[in-house]
Formats: sequence, C-alpha cells, structure tokens
Amino acid sequence: MNTEPSISPTTRHSLQSKVRALSVILAEEFGVAFTFHDAASGLEVPLAKAEAAPGSCHAGATVLVGQAAAEGQCRTGRLDDAHNLLALVIFQGDQPQFVATAVQHSLAGVGPERSRELDHLRKWLQTFSDRLRLNELVALTRSAAEEQAVQFKRAWDTILGLDESIRHMRIHRDVETNRRNILRKARGYLEAQTVLWVPQQPPGPSLVEGEPCLAPADCRHLADLVSRRAVADSQKHLVWNADSSAIWSQRFPQIRNVIAFRVSDHDCTGWLLAINKQGQAQGQPAKGAAGAEDCPFRGTDAAVFAPFAALFQLQLRASRRYQDLKSLLVGLTRSLTAALDAKDPSTFGHSERVARIAMQLGEELGLQTDELSDIYLGGLLHDIGKIGIPDAILCKTGILDAEEMEQMKQHVTIGYQILADLQPLRGLLPGVLYHHERVDGKGYPEGLAGENIPLLARILAVADAYDAMSNRRSYRHSLSPDAVENTLKRGAGSQWDARVVEAFFRCRDRIDLIRQRGIGQSLGQALETAMRAGTTSRATELQATH
Ligand SMILES: [Fe+2]
Repeated sequence: MNTEPSISPTTRHSLQSKVRALSVILAEEFGVAFTFHDAASGLEVPLAKAEAAPGSCHAGATVLVGQAAAEGQCRTGRLDDAHNLLALVIFQGDQPQFVATAVQHSLAGVGPERSRELDHLRKWLQTFSDRLRLNELVALTRSAAEEQAVQFKRAWDTILGLDESIRHMRIHRDVETNRRNILRKARGYLEAQTVLWVPQQPPGPSLVEGEPCLAPADCRHLADLVSRRAVADSQKHLVWNADSSAIWSQRFPQIRNVIAFRVSDHDCTGWLLAINKQGQAQGQPAKGAAGAEDCPFRGTDAAVFAPFAALFQLQLRASRRYQDLKSLLVGLTRSLTAALDAKDPSTFGHSERVARIAMQLGEELGLQTDELSDIYLGGLLHDIGKIGIPDAILCKTGILDAEEMEQMKQHVTIGYQILADLQPLRGLLPGVLYHHERVDGKGYPEGLAGENIPLLARILAVADAYDAMSNRRSYRHSLSPDAVENTLKRGAGSQWDARVVEAFFRCRDRIDLIRQRGIGQSLGQALETAMRAGTTSRATELQATH
C-alpha cells in the first residue's frame, strides 16, 4: 500500500522523516514497534523494511485505524487471547494526520482484567497523543512567530534598501547607473539568480543584474511571452513557479520560476523580470540548481519586488522630465545667445562656437558627459551679461577707453545676476562669472589665480580667447592662425591654464573645423532648433532683416 501519488517528492520526504522520528519516540514510550497509516485514506505510510513493524498489516488494525481517525480518539482492541491492538492518533493542527498501530502482548489474559488493561492502555495512548498534539501546536506557534519575525525583518530591510536606493539616485547622473542600482538592490532582497529590465517600447538593450542566464535576444523573447500572457490575464504583474506547462519551459529550460512586473511611463514600456529564486541568504553563495529547484517565488516576493518596480517607474518618469526640462533650457539658452548675437552683429555665432570649442577641450581633458553638458551651456551663456552693456560701448568701432572698459568688464557680474535665480543653471555660474580671470591673478572680476579659478572658467577662457582672436571685431581684424597660436603659447601658464592650452593643441584640427564652419551654419542650427520648437525668436527676425 502507498500514500497518495500526487504528493511531491519534497513533501513525501518530509512526511517520512516525521514518521521515522515518531516511530522511535513511540517505540521508546510503549516498548513496541508501530506502523503508520494516513489518517484520511487509511493507507500505510511506507518505510524501509527494517523500520516496519512486524505483523502490522492486520484486518483488525484496519478497522481500528478507521474508527480512531474518524473520532480523533485513540483506540485499543483485542487481537487474540494473548495480544492487544493499539491505535494512536497523531494530529497536524486540528486534523488527524496519522494513526499509528501496534500489536502488544497482553499481561491480563482473559476476563475483567483484560478490559481494565485495554482501558488503561487507551488512556495511556490518549495521554501520549495529547502530549504530541500539544508539542505540535507549540512548535507550529513558534514556527509561525519565527516566520513572522523573518518577514518583518525582510520588510524592514526592504524599506531600508529602498531608502538607500532613493538617497543614491541622482536623476541628472547616468540613467543606466541609476537603473542598475535599483535592479541590484531588488535582486539582493528577492534572492533571485537574475533580475533584468527589458524595454519593449521603444525597444532597447536589456539591463541584466546577476548571472546572465539568457542571451540578449532571449531576454526580449521571454519578455514578449510574459507580455502576451499578462495581456491575456489582464495583469500588470505575474508570479510563475516550476511548471512543465509554463510558457517558457521548452524554450528556456534553465528558468524554474519568474516574477514579472510591467513598468510604463508615457511612451516607454517594458518588463522587470526576476528569474530563479535561489533561497539563500543575501550575500551567501548561491545554491546549486538541485538545491534550489523546489524553492518557489511566493506572494511575499512579489510584495518585495513591487516597491522596486514602482521606484524604477519613478526613475523612468523623473529621467524623462529631466530630459524634457534640459531640452527646454537648451532651447531657451540658445534663444538668449541668439539675442546677444543680434545685439552685436560683429560677434554673430561667437557664443555657439565658444560652446563647441570648450566641449572639445573638455573631452580632451577627459571630462564626463554631464560636465561636458555644463561646458556647452556655459559656452553659450558666458557673455550673456553683455545684454546689459550699452550698444555704444558694445558696438564701438574704436578702442575702449578706461571708463568704457570698466563698464564692459561688468558683463560678467551682470551675466551672473541674470542667471543666479535659475536653479537648473547654477552649475554654469562659475564659468559666467570667472571666464575673464587669469591664472596669474591679473584677471577680473576677483583676481583669482591658478586652480582657485573653476575649471569650467579656465576652459571657457581659452575657447573664448581663441574664437575672439580668430574672428574680426569692430575694433580690429582677425588674427592669422599662426598669430593666434603664438599668443596662446605665450600666455600658457600666465593668462591661461597651461594644461588647457596643451589640450587645445592636441585637438587643434578639430577646433579649426569648428571655426571654419562660420557664423551662418551656427546660426542656421539655432534657427532649426527654434523652428523645431515651433517658436520664432527675436534673433531670427533680426537676422532675417540683415
Ligand atoms: Fe566675456
């Protein structure tokens, strides 16, 4: 006889372990070997032959098992003149789980003594059954309390993890780094083999944290399968555990289970996928596939994953809005510089060229993408303060006298004041205010020297000087390339940062290309930007009249 065939191997192993332990305890208590029967079906729980009780499968025992299981009470009976049958009920929670039976030699023989013996045995069995049940209840309560404590700690750890992720998220920094940080945290708390982000609309490369258990093309294929199932089930998240009928089982046999969350913002949609619950403590070595094969994702795992999915979606939204804002600022900035160019026709395109040249210098000096962005905007706006300088000075064809020069120098502080209240542009202020400082301390407005001058300003100073010398001004002709280069070399280490001038000569050819493109193309690009934004700047109108 066998127990129900639908029981999983793990559950069967657990039941047999329990029965083995009970058989030892009962044998010690009653001095005889017991056989165990499933309380619901009456079927015998198979044990190794050496562990089985001799003569346990008796017709009288079968009847006694049925009665004991039905009543939840221990029973005794006469097998023959010399032997008694014992039936002890073992509970799991509120329900009988097993009935253990045994054959015992009677000491009372026949007559009234035999009845008293059976009654005493029944009471002994019942007392022992009650003790086992009480122990079971205590163990269950303790186990539930421990599980609750584990879940509470997990929830608390997750909150702390989320808090840390949010604190370290820098929207203006590299988008991929932010997203990877979230995936890494989620993987740790989920104890998953792999966590990945698969963007679907617009399609893009997947981000994978953990063991790369899928090829890039397979990541997309799995996300497509998940998406189809989710649409069919009208769900935004799914939890699937080992199941031979799972949609991926044939294509991806290495995947045992998956949690999937749909993440979307505006026109960006994709799936966050956690693959293969590993079931080991965070930071511990991963179990082998065999050890983890019965470890499922549970509802609590989905609950842990949910806030990370929400954070990821928030990151998508914040990143998009940041990019929108940045695009708007760039557009406004270029409109402002176009207005400045229109105020002094002799410097048309100067700000645009300075921005591009400064970018080249920044790249040559190994600056990061976000720093280059600040350099570009700083180049566009470095002379914005000239809007506040009288036309008579700004457009004067002769050399400025001392008083006019002092007024002209005010353009750096005027520019600073114009931009000071624009929070997103605060990073550019050092470039605007200090781009006329000199490393020997003889510049203005504060006479800063050396590295006390912000790097952005030192880079802008070289770009500004190069473009100014290379182009005609109302008070002089443009200088020849040789004259410009000689001036820069002579001024390296006194007027300009020698390291920036060295960078200039390393990328001299690329910078010369920027200069040769001329004013028309620079302004043409500014016009294109304005037209794309559906606006017509004042500068455009002014230029059209020339
Ligand atoms: Fe300037």
